[in-house]
Formats: sequence, C-alpha cells, structure tokens
Amino acid sequence: MTDTKTLWDELDNLAKILPPLSTLFKADPERATHMSFRVGRLYADFSKQRINPTVQNTLLKLAEACELEDWRAKFFSGEKINTTENRAVLHPALRGTGGDKDVQKQVSDMRARTRVFADKIRNDGHYKTIVHIGIGGSDLGPRLVADALAAQTKPALALRFAENVDGASINDALDGLDPKTTLVVSVSKSFTTQETRMNTQAARDWLGEHAGTNIITVTANRAGAEDFGVSPDQIFDFWDWVGGRYSLWSAVSISLQIAYGPDVFDQLLAGAAEMDAHFKDAPLEKNLPVMLAMTGIWNCNVLGYPSQAVIAYARRLRKFSSFLQQLEMESNGKGVTRSGQPAGVTCPIVWGDEGTNSQHAFFQHLHQGTQGAPIDFIAVLNSAEGRPDHHSALLANCFAQSEALMVGKSEAKVREELNASGMDAEAIDLIAPHKTFPGNRPSTTILLDRLDAHALGNLIALYEHKAFVQSVIWDINAFDQWGVELGKVLASQILSELETDASLDAHDSSTATLIRLARRAAKS
Ligand code: F6P
Repeated sequence: MTDTKTLWDELDNLAKILPPLSTLFKADPERATHMSFRVGRLYADFSKQRINPTVQNTLLKLAEACELEDWRAKFFSGEKINTTENRAVLHPALRGTGGDKDVQKQVSDMRARTRVFADKIRNDGHYKTIVHIGIGGSDLGPRLVADALAAQTKPALALRFAENVDGASINDALDGLDPKTTLVVSVSKSFTTQETRMNTQAARDWLGEHAGTNIITVTANRAGAEDFGVSPDQIFDFWDWVGGRYSLWSAVSISLQIAYGPDVFDQLLAGAAEMDAHFKDAPLEKNLPVMLAMTGIWNCNVLGYPSQAVIAYARRLRKFSSFLQQLEMESNGKGVTRSGQPAGVTCPIVWGDEGTNSQHAFFQHLHQGTQGAPIDFIAVLNSAEGRPDHHSALLANCFAQSEALMVGKSEAKVREELNASGMDAEAIDLIAPHKTFPGNRPSTTILLDRLDAHALGNLIALYEHKAFVQSVIWDINAFDQWGVELGKVLASQILSELETDASLDAHDSSTATLIRLARRAAKS
C-alpha cells in the first residue's frame, strides 16, 4: 500500500494540473450521474466539486492508507476510541446500530420509558408548553429537529428553548407562560454546565409551588441532578459513551418526543440507522459519508480553502449550520494528533445560513471574493409549505447559485455583452473587470425527498460520519473537547472577582480594566 506522504504529494501534484470544472463537464457529459449518490431519502451530487476520477481514486487510497476501514470497525464495535477520556463512542447504538447486549438493553429500556412518559404528557393535555433548557449538544440537535419538523407534524405542545446564560434567554422562554401548565425539561450531560444550572434554577424559582412536579432532567450525571434537588423519578439517564454533540438520539430529545410524538422520533432514528448501515457496509468508493468527508479533505488540505459553507435552501433547516459548527468544529478543531504530536491542517471553519437570505448578504464574497469557500447546498424536493410557486423560486435560486459559482462569467463575455449594449470602449474598460466572475468555485448539492423525520435522520447521521472520517484522515480524536475547558475555568474565577473587590493583579491590564468597568456598571 502506498504510504500517506506519497499520496498527499500525489494529491498536491494533481491539484496543479486539474482542469477547471467547465472542462471536466465537457470531458464527461454524464459527470452528474457518475458523481451522484442516492442513499435513503437523500440525493447528493458531487459533480460540481473540483475532482476528477484520478483525484477521487487517490483520495480513496489515502483513506485506505489511513486505515479508515479499521477505524470504522473499531467505532461500530464499541472500542474505546475516545482515548483521552477512555470512552467508547456508541451514539449509533441509540438508533439500534451496534453496541453489546448491555448497551442495547439500556437503550431499549430508556426508549420505552421516554415513550411512556411522552405519551402520558401528550394524552392528558395538562401541559401547554415545554421549556427545554440546555446548551451545545443539549440544545442544538433538539432545536434543529424541532424547527425542521414543524411543517410536517403539528407539535402537540408549544416548544421553547433557553440556552444562553444571558438572562434574556430564560426571560424570553418563560415570557407569558403559566407555571402550572409549563413543563421544564433541563438537559445537561454533565449537569455541571453553568448556563443550564442557572437557567434551571431561574425556571425553578419561576415555577414556585409547581417546581416539584414540573421539572424533569436528562443527564449522564444522576447524582449531580439529585444534588441539585431533582427527584430521582424525574431524571432520565444517558451514558458517558454518548458524546454531547451526538446526543440528540437519546433522551436528550425527550422534548421532541413529547411535542412530535414517539413515532416521529422513531422515524428520525430509523433514518439515522439507515445511514449507519450504509456507512458501515458500503465500500469506500460508494460510501456517501466517505465521499463527503474526502471531498472536504481535498478542499481544505489540498486546494487550501480555509472554510466550508453550508447553505440550506430550506428555512426550516436554518439551524443546520449552527448544529454543524458544533458537530464538526468541536469534534475536529484539534491541534494535536491522537498521540499528542502537532497535527497538520485540520477542520476548516464551518459557517452558513439559509438561502435565499444569504444571497443578499454574503454571496458577493463567494462569487467574487479572493478566498471563496466550498459550499454544501441543501434543499428539499417536495415542500410541505403549500406554496408551490414559492418552492419553485426557492429551488431555482439554489440551483442557479451553484451553477453561477461553477460557470462564472469571463471578462471576454462581459465585454461582448457590454459592446452589444452600445457602451463605449472606455466605459467598458472601466466596468468589465467588476462584472467578471472567476467561476470554478466548488459545491455539493444534497437534496432531501421531503423534510420529514426519516430524511432528517439520514442527513444528520451523514454529517456525523463525515466528521468521524475526517478525524481519521487527520489522525485526531473527534470525541473529546478539552479546548472548551480553559475559558470555563477563567469565567468562574472572573465571576467571583466581579462580585467582590478582590485584587486583579493576576490579570493582564486589558482583562483587569474590563472587570473594573463591569464592577462600576453593576454599582451604578
Ligand atoms: O462546553 C462544551 C460542552 O461540553 C459541549 O461539548 C456540550 O455539548 C455542552 O458543553 C453542554 O454540556 P452539558 O450537556 O454537559 O451541559
């Protein structure tokens, strides 16, 4: 097998001689067919990526040389691949893929318990609103799914979220609600997270006499929740082998199960399980998560793009880029390899927003800026919004953007058009460079048949596996997040300094001045 260094060199050389996308399409008119995947309810078209068959083969060889198949087997078999925390990574077991008998029993018992609880709340009709409190992985997944499914399924209860420690978050979530008919769902894997503890305490105070009955918690730290005063029968557990950013498949989503029903939640799990089976069994060259991941590796490590944009042409997926920011950047924003050596270039900045809004905000930069960014366009074929004219316009914009980015517009063509319009030569010289589009800007388009729970499960699991594959290529641990700790420690120290007159000598002059200004403001 060729070693990885040689393969990286080969990729660098291939990048130097790669023809532009327009030439690749001319060379292979069936390129879209050759470079598209259909898995479950997703269609993914990679033909607008700056990749040809030689590049694709070399990327696959790199994946093999990085022992991706072994890592994939270790992952699904429950080996402790999160070595810095000595933990297995078994979120697929939450949707029925992998895990030993004990794990499977824990999962099925908890699914049965959450189902009974969700059905009870739905059927007795006492509660009108759920306030879901949590942050990061205890918020982003449930929030994404809550938004995404709203057109397909009418929620049985209103669902609100509070995540930020800024008092505005819990204030807005509780505003206008009746404590008697509000169920507070407090979610924290660690149950030590400052934001969630403070928001839960605020909600508990607000609930008053109903606090004993109207709060449930979901946590992997039962003892911590009990210490906080939650009664044991109101605690729903999950386990240390579920990473926070991979936890939406667990009781963490109990709010969704109540609002949308356990059956809809099961469809979400089934969609994810379908992607698990594909990722686990499909050969690398036919494997959609592998293709998505290796295309990202090519764009980031070889073509040198520093970021990856994700634009959902679906308002109800507008939280998808935020969800992916945690999934990809908390997983792969690492600076050292598994063995602690300096890593090469890892995870690009993931960013994005909804289309068409972003066309009127930052697409100028994508079309003519000097850096550009590869884009994942995500759209839904069959809309549930009941406005076919709007939906056609939405899709037309999505498809037009990827085409425009790829095709561009040469200066010669601009000049020809201006000339034909009767503009004089001097004016053409001035304006032509501004109206030129370089083109050759890469994108992938992913289409969901419809925005239902199953397709959403397909989509989210696709990106989970993409992040894992990339971590294997970069030789990093995707499942820890030590980088979030330092700021937390300093924040707790500064919090005590804000509330006292303690000396600030240990701080730099910038931080000390900021603290003094805040102290003064608090006293005024
Ligand atoms: O600070 C980062 C983080 O630990 C994430 O990994 C996690 O999803 C989030 O905080 C919330 O943590 P918890 O669920 O333990 O409250």
